[in-house]
Amino acid sequence: MTTATAANARRAHFPFRWTAIPVSSRAMNPTTNIAIRAARQAGNVIMRSFSRIDSLTVSEKQVNDYVTEVDRNAEQAIIDVIRKAYPGHAILAEESGHQGEDAYQWIIDPLDGTTNYLHGFPQFAVSIALMHRGRPESAVVYDPTRDEMFTADRGGGALLNDRRLRVTDQKGLRGALLGTGIPFRDQRHMDAYLGMLRDLTRDTAGIRRPGSAALDFAYVAAGRLDGFWELGLSVWDFAAGALLVEEAGGMVSDIGGGSRHLETGNVICANVRLHGAIVDTIRPHLSDELRA
Ligand code: IPD
Ligand code: CA
Ligand code: CA
Repeated sequence: MTTATAANARRAHFPFRWTAIPVSSRAMNPTTNIAIRAARQAGNVIMRSFSRIDSLTVSEKQVNDYVTEVDRNAEQAIIDVIRKAYPGHAILAEESGHQGEDAYQWIIDPLDGTTNYLHGFPQFAVSIALMHRGRPESAVVYDPTRDEMFTADRGGGALLNDRRLRVTDQKGLRGALLGTGIPFRDQRHMDAYLGMLRDLTRDTAGIRRPGSAALDFAYVAAGRLDGFWELGLSVWDFAAGALLVEEAGGMVSDIGGGSRHLETGNVICANVRLHGAIVDTIRPHLSDELRA
């Protein structure tokens, strides 16, 4: 790499895309403040048990899908805060399912990255989104190991603690750092996925698989990753993350570049130009089922 290219690469990634706009300088949606309070409560539950993971009772919901009392207790802590503030709102939570019917619905993943958590691998988060008629309005992703609170209000931008976030301006695949999730439960699309991984590995600076989709989206919003893609997510993994990326100026789509990502769980996000390049690289690998 020439010196000029190295300097460009450094400029593209460091420092993170933060500008010093204190959070107190703008009014935050009250629902986002409730989500922050709920996420902190869940973070306390999660961190209290992190030093004694060997004593947790682990059950397998399905192949490679684990749950512990920490997931359930963190979820209950979140629901208690939300119910108290907004008793009429509906809830969809990963461990306890649907409650209520309303135009407003909270979507909760109390511990995103349970497998990491169970291995003492410090990459996991609490994810809370408020949807209005199916569209994310408020979003919080909280990493309790680093005390990093990622928040977004629709139309109000995205923040990490008190710093405003912006996706990177990486123009194309060359030099880009992407995040992904490798299929580990449903293997139906493994060959298609490996084709995408091969081509994106060839064309980029590297691919990371950190293991918490909610944080992967938050890292795209924060400019720590240039982009991200994964197949087969559940809506609670990324409803909050999708709003973070959009409010940080990025683009979120389904795997074909359309807008059905919250339904299909097959998702790509990045800044607008890089997003187009990822879609183009992935397209030849889409089966009829993935295209649908
Ligand atoms: C998982 C994480 C992981 C992703 C999986 C999700 P969980 O969530 O987000 O990164 O690859 O698809 O299920 O089960 O730990 O809440
Ligand atoms: Ca999850
Ligand atoms: Ca979870």
